[in-house]
Amino acid sequence: MRRLCFHLKPGLSRLFGIFMLAVWVIASSGCSEQIPGPEAAETRPGGAATTSIIPFPELDKVTPNLPEQERPLFYAGRALAHQPWVKAPTITDARDGLGPIYNARGCLACHIRGGKSRMPDNADTPLFGPLIRMSVVLDDAAAMTAAANSHDGVIPDPVYGDQLQTQSIALMHQLRQATPTAMAEQQQVPPEAYAYITWHEQAFIYPDGSSVSLRKPELDLRYAAYGDFDTNTRFSVRNAPAIHGMGLLELIAQSDLEALADPEDADGNGISGRQNRVWDARSQRWLPGRFGHKANRPNMDMIVASAFANDIGISNPLFPSQPCTAYQPLCEQQRNGNDSQGMELPDNLLRLVTNFTRNLGVPQRRNVDNAEVLEGRTLFYATGCVTCHQPSYTTVASTTQPHLGNQRIWPYTDLLLHDMGPALADGRPDFAASGSEWRTPPLWGVGLMARVNGSQQYLHDGRARSIEEAILWHGGEAAMARQKFADLGAEERHNLLQFVESL
Ligand code: HEC
Ligand code: HEC
Repeated sequence: MRRLCFHLKPGLSRLFGIFMLAVWVIASSGCSEQIPGPEAAETRPGGAATTSIIPFPELDKVTPNLPEQERPLFYAGRALAHQPWVKAPTITDARDGLGPIYNARGCLACHIRGGKSRMPDNADTPLFGPLIRMSVVLDDAAAMTAAANSHDGVIPDPVYGDQLQTQSIALMHQLRQATPTAMAEQQQVPPEAYAYITWHEQAFIYPDGSSVSLRKPELDLRYAAYGDFDTNTRFSVRNAPAIHGMGLLELIAQSDLEALADPEDADGNGISGRQNRVWDARSQRWLPGRFGHKANRPNMDMIVASAFANDIGISNPLFPSQPCTAYQPLCEQQRNGNDSQGMELPDNLLRLVTNFTRNLGVPQRRNVDNAEVLEGRTLFYATGCVTCHQPSYTTVASTTQPHLGNQRIWPYTDLLLHDMGPALADGRPDFAASGSEWRTPPLWGVGLMARVNGSQQYLHDGRARSIEEAILWHGGEAAMARQKFADLGAEERHNLLQFVESL
């Protein structure tokens, strides 16, 4: 990973504190580059695909530069992403096939207004929007390597598969008349289980004595309806990320990401970063991973197709199966919503939805000229956040999405996997990602989450209720950056947070 060096710019306010930090950063990293000054282009993080936040911010808005003649296709995809899917059969096969077991009826039920989903704040509200991923984790290294090299990337739980479906089409479930276990007894297809979260609070105390309460989720599964989970099954709570700017992230050059990766930490800065290697069912090839919390999907086709199959229960050409396993006969026996090709969602409709996610614009920045934000920007570079939250790229040219190509973008991610330490680890590998690795999430739009849909819940499992909490959970390769952040004075910390809030 390349090093960044602190460089004093004349005219910056609060010089002394910054100066001391500069001396310390230079002394501790021996760096020789300087922090690039702010550019006008930063205020439009999606380049020409930047959206206005007036009258209010939404992350499911079309990129303003999408040509007029392409807009009907975008809106058709948007309708499919918004619409609630229904149980088969219906008079039309264009929107049926829900389930039999599923997590939600439509994409934007979880990615609310294009933003994140919401974690329940008490132990009695069942999880809806965030998901539970699960798989068998063995001590046997050869078996784990075989799993990483399989097209699933994991060893699914033999009975429940690799994702917990908490809803079902059974009328008893729709009317909440019985628990999943009671439904199973009455031969109604039950949801796999209900999931609840208990939060455990702990205090983080800054060197200056001030403190922040951090919370950690404990998963509680109730009414598991298909018998026991495998004793080696591990569970991972996943909050739904925001879905804007996906087409731009797809067009970051592979060579740019390879240049940032440093799997053996050759430069010895404590930060490695590597790409996941994942299966692409469309091209029938192994590709680098970019999307999902562990970068387990290579492109929009795979992440959207897997969401249809696993989250909504809609089979499609890339994921042709229903979410039922061989041990769930009640699920397998339900009527499907197949068309004449034997699919619930034909390829042309799948492509409409991937086209929709590719063309969601990135919101403009706010308060870019504010003195606190500008100082925070300097600190964001100086504390080493940029080593992983890589500020900017120029997208490659594209024949299919020409308006998204050749754009200078500011996503603040390297899309690489980093070991984030034991406190964030889920102990559940996925393809080449280990149980403690996570993909650096883009930070564009991160300061708007509360205004988009009220969900201010960061990190893969939504545990952080503020940007500050999210930073304080950083460990592993990011431990040094967290420490540098914690060692700042209260005013500098405030300014750094103001900068992230302005993204
Ligand atoms: C039940 C909630 C739920 C539904 C329904 C759902 N998603 Fe997701 N989505 C998630 C979660 C959770 C993740 C993160 C998954 C992971 O990495 O484990 C995700 C990840 C994504 C990503 C990757 C974002 C990134 O930064 O890498 C995209 C794009 C996406 N979903 C689009 C869709 C689309 C399109 C649909 C509808 C076909 C959909 N989702 C349906 C919860 C949902
Ligand atoms: C070693 C790489 C690395 C460094 C250095 C790093 N981060 Fe991160 N950051 C990550 C990863 C990986 C995640 C996701 C972790 C997870 O979901 O559990 C993350 C998550 C975040 C999030 C939550 C985003 C969201 O949408 O949930 C914020 C905010 C953030 N980082 C800010 C910062 C700031 C500020 C700094 C510098 C003080 C920093 N990071 C340093 C890798 C890094």
